Amino acid sequence: MDAGNTITVASFAIVVVLLAAASSLAAAAAVPAVYVLGDSLADVGNNNHLLTLLKADFPHNGIDYPGKKATGRFSNGKNFPDFLAENLGLATSPPYLAISSSSNANYVNGVNFASGGAGVFNSTNKDQCISFDKQIEYYSKVQASLVQSLGEAQAASHLAKSLFAITIGSNDIIGYVRSSAAAKATNPPQQFVDALIQSLTGQLQRLYDLGARKLVFLGTGPVGCCPSLRELSAARDCSGEANEASALYNAATASLLHGMGERHADLRYAVFDSSAALLRYIEQPAAYGFAEARAACCGLGDMNAKIGCTPVSFYCANRTGYVFWDFYHPTEATARKLTGVAFDGSPPLVFPMNIRQLTAM
Ligand SMILES: *[C@@H]1O[C@H](CO)[C@@H](O)[C@H](O)[C@H]1NC(C)=O
Ligand SMILES: *[C@@H]1O[C@H](CO)[C@@H](O)[C@H](O)[C@H]1NC(C)=O
Repeated sequence: MDAGNTITVASFAIVVVLLAAASSLAAAAAVPAVYVLGDSLADVGNNNHLLTLLKADFPHNGIDYPGKKATGRFSNGKNFPDFLAENLGLATSPPYLAISSSSNANYVNGVNFASGGAGVFNSTNKDQCISFDKQIEYYSKVQASLVQSLGEAQAASHLAKSLFAITIGSNDIIGYVRSSAAAKATNPPQQFVDALIQSLTGQLQRLYDLGARKLVFLGTGPVGCCPSLRELSAARDCSGEANEASALYNAATASLLHGMGERHADLRYAVFDSSAALLRYIEQPAAYGFAEARAACCGLGDMNAKIGCTPVSFYCANRTGYVFWDFYHPTEATARKLTGVAFDGSPPLVFPMNIRQLTAM
């Protein structure tokens, strides 16, 4: 190759690099912010500000987080909103309760309202968390503040381009499964799920009315396979009752979003079937790089599933080999893999489009 060709090749390479940089900037600019609502799978520190038992701001939580910091994430490290933001090239949206008290609160870069313990119903872990309704109420304040600072049209345009990531429903299902046989007899699973969906319909509609146009909805995982619910069975099997309720709920949320999409031509969404995605790791751990898919890494008692992750709990040496961090929550390794599938995967795991496609619209 002579010198002239080398220069041509080199400048071609530079052009390619510049184009790639420009297109990744364009992709980043496509989503200016992420607004997160939901439960402990998405809490990045809101519950630190509450008087509640549902906290994770102490070791061994955060043992793999930068600085080994217990941030309030129910994880050994990062969780779903962190990986979502990383995939988008954005910083993780801060917890609402950490910024709302500041006089120069900046809501333009996204806000996280998620709270460990939250459910679709106000009654789920009542007074122990920020209920989903309360989160939406907080979001309405943020929306009003954006209208004030940016003007009505700019605020609407900003929110329409932003992602609204929602993970809610697991705590309602856990509460249902743990309720008495008598309570369940008068409220069979389908009826219970119908009531959840009725509430969720109004809640998602309210988010739409407040400007949300791009929804990422994470269905509930195979709740019955979390170590805590395995403890309900002598054989330590997954709770079929919980997994069936989760499957009913996920199917119903998919059709709820489909219906919303038909009513509102400007609504886009991606539904992630967390149950199907996570069940693959639980049923074939080795195929997905896991060694332990039943026991919790951090906890006490049988399968580390009797007591949660506290400073006096045991914890496993190899966190990347465990599907579950504590008796309810996935490890950072699991959250990273699942978010990757939601971002770049295909139906039936994520539909009608994945998050990357949603951000490009
Ligand atoms: C749930 O709580 C909100 C306030 O956070 C309230 O506006 C709403 O009416 C409550 N819903 C029910 C069904 O009680
Ligand atoms: C941790 O466990 C995983 C899954 O078994 C394995 O691939 C990995 O090599 C282990 N890491 C260490 C440091 O032992």
